[in-house]
Amino acid sequence: MKMEDEVPVIDLAGTQDDAGLKSVGAQIAKACEEWGFFQIINHGVDLSLMDRIQEAYREFFYLPPEEKQKYLVDDQFQGWCCPEMSGHARVKKIGLITPETCEYMYHDVLYGDPDRQNLVPPNPPALRATVLEYATQVRALQERVLAALSQELGLEADALRRLFAPADVGIRANFYPLKTDDNTVGVLPAHSDAPVFTFLLADKVPGLEIRRHGRWMQVEPLQNAFIVNVADCLEVVSNGRFKSVEHKGGGNEGRERISIGAFYNPARAATIGPVAQLLDESSRRPRYGSARFADLQDQLVAKGVHGKRYVEAL
Ligand code: SIN
Ligand code: FE2
Repeated sequence: MKMEDEVPVIDLAGTQDDAGLKSVGAQIAKACEEWGFFQIINHGVDLSLMDRIQEAYREFFYLPPEEKQKYLVDDQFQGWCCPEMSGHARVKKIGLITPETCEYMYHDVLYGDPDRQNLVPPNPPALRATVLEYATQVRALQERVLAALSQELGLEADALRRLFAPADVGIRANFYPLKTDDNTVGVLPAHSDAPVFTFLLADKVPGLEIRRHGRWMQVEPLQNAFIVNVADCLEVVSNGRFKSVEHKGGGNEGRERISIGAFYNPARAATIGPVAQLLDESSRRPRYGSARFADLQDQLVAKGVHGKRYVEAL
């Protein structure tokens, strides 16, 4: 495979300070423009925490269905979901779970509301604290990447962060168990992500495919890396300069796989629309409308999930 056929890899070593961070801004922006996907290495998130969260979710997914069912997804999309058990009607209605969808669990964990955090199951015992610690570390990293992008766009370093503040982090763990002769293993059908961006802790086992020039290509996960992708809100805010790209997930024949996505979700009150300073110099024309993130979410619940949903709604 030629080098230009690989998702770009960006090394964040030495980017803890402002000058270091500024130095990777151009690479990040280029990857967001040309690929909508990149991998980051030396990102500073505790590697043992990355192992621990995978293990905690694995333990959860190994629990018997009767136990997991206690955490069945609610009308706010929080919880565990599996096609056989079905989920909350609202989740089914918008197509978040279909007969072919893999087993998964989703939680918004950093809205600062302890009641919500308590929705993360207490079984296995380490899960809740691990998820919280992980989301906190990943959000700090996401805000560094956002600062690098802001500066590269000619905005104040915290301009994008302020636009979405206070952001939440949603954590979604997808489970693709080993396939046996008499079962089919679920997939994550083609979609784009809704929020600003997603940092995926990919399993060592590959299974993520992205749409590139109209074809599907598999991403080879680097060890200890995050696979980052531009999501719909960032495409809109950048007036289309950065691309939210469709992708899909699956298991791998003969090997179990768990992937964990951390979504940087705008505050529900945040206005999502092209930022005035980012309109093309020549036309100054916004390519998308604007709406509150909460209204977009409600609208999409009414319409269902398909394609690049937030981009299409604006
Ligand atoms: C995702 O779209 O959230 C990830 C798909 C995967 O790699 O399993
Ligand atoms: Fe996704």
